[in-house]
Amino acid sequence: MARERKAYVCTACGHAIGRWVGKCPECGEWGTLGEVPTSSGGLTLVGAPQPVVLGEIGDETLRRIPTGIGELDRVLGGGLVEGSLVLIGGEPGIGKSTLVLQALAHLSTTGSALLITGEESAAQVAGRGRRLAASCAAVQVLAETRLEAVISTIEAHRPTVCAIDSVQTLVSDRVEGAYGSVTQVRQATAELVRIAKSLGTVIILVGQVTKDGNLAGPRTLEHLVDCVLTFDGDHLREHRVLRSSKNRFGSTDETALFSMGADGLTAIEDPSAIYLAESGDRIGSCVFPAVEGSRTVLVEIQALVGPTEVIPPRRLAGGVDRTRLAQVIAVLNRHAGRRFGDQDVFVSVAAGARALDPAADLAIALALVSADRGKPLVGRPAAFGELGLTGAIRRVGHHDRRAQTAAGHGITMTIAPETRDQTAIAGLQAVADIQAAIELVSG
Ligand code: TYD
Ligand code: MG
Repeated sequence: MARERKAYVCTACGHAIGRWVGKCPECGEWGTLGEVPTSSGGLTLVGAPQPVVLGEIGDETLRRIPTGIGELDRVLGGGLVEGSLVLIGGEPGIGKSTLVLQALAHLSTTGSALLITGEESAAQVAGRGRRLAASCAAVQVLAETRLEAVISTIEAHRPTVCAIDSVQTLVSDRVEGAYGSVTQVRQATAELVRIAKSLGTVIILVGQVTKDGNLAGPRTLEHLVDCVLTFDGDHLREHRVLRSSKNRFGSTDETALFSMGADGLTAIEDPSAIYLAESGDRIGSCVFPAVEGSRTVLVEIQALVGPTEVIPPRRLAGGVDRTRLAQVIAVLNRHAGRRFGDQDVFVSVAAGARALDPAADLAIALALVSADRGKPLVGRPAAFGELGLTGAIRRVGHHDRRAQTAAGHGITMTIAPETRDQTAIAGLQAVADIQAAIELVSG
């Protein structure tokens, strides 16, 4: 007879071991280990499973279900994949429940859509639904937090899509650990993965993340789910960015921008207009054509420099890579005679956008030059290119796409690296090094 296997998981840090001990060997907490059911307990194998030769496996076409929100579908890689689990994380109040309800509203017109709510009552959800532009009348709702009850509801109703808002509210009486603890959230997710795969139902999990992003829940779930989306933005402003950090069925480069209004979220199909709205002939500003998956978006890099009162001086990077910023500062120092040694340097991307790839180096450098001189760049240029340690400007991917997007938004000068096959694009100015680039924008 197979021996019953047991596993114990720490409710504080999620560490799992095979025997019970009083003190967790991982985090050092006392009395936090609880027993969890293991799938291998009492398992008897009947015959050995037969592996398949890769060459004999045909193309598996994924069945995708459009959510009706085009921008959400793009970030998902073309809609929800049948039987998959999608986790949507974000701080409280950012709009996760709104996004999910809007998606369910559309999904309920093509299939059945079920919302399990543990945070709000069914009446509160109905009230929110009535304020939205899309009709939620056909969405089924259940206010429930017991995992076993949620599972049997899904099994009985077999919805096309089931959203659970939020995963932290689910509790199972078969697992130890408080409401919202790592063990509870993990057990709930593991059970939901099983049911999604067996029924083909799509399960959307909403996960609350605290400001520092370190709530145990969603982080420990990332490897269990197929797709992780994060909803992000500045609470005081209406814009929200949806990004994907994991996607088994698509790229993680796509992002989508929404605006939150009185009747819910509206997708913004051309974010460049929003990001550039505040730019202009300003000191310390340079436009950068950023490539985000299948689209190119113009963002504004902003820089501010000023005498420091601390040693070492401050280097603050918002939406740009800190290491690249340090390198750009060093290159400007060595090859363009710009000294920032006794200056605080702040560089950020306007409106919460991001420009993390090395292609942003040149735009960061020019924004810094403008900030340092106290004069706007001549000609309101866009710029892209990687800055080498020698001051040379290197080629980057999607050269023509970046230049065309800038030209398409009325930018009359785009400073870019030299390429072998120079394409004629309006306003394109190829430069070999940082000195030549600075020359172009000096009055
Ligand atoms: P919500 O979706 O509840 O956020 P989350 O589920 O991430 O906590 O919505 C967040 C905020 O958005 C809330 O403060 C109210 C506001 N809101 C609107 O401005 N317009 C709307 O149509 C809705 C539904 C909410
Ligand atoms: Mg919510």
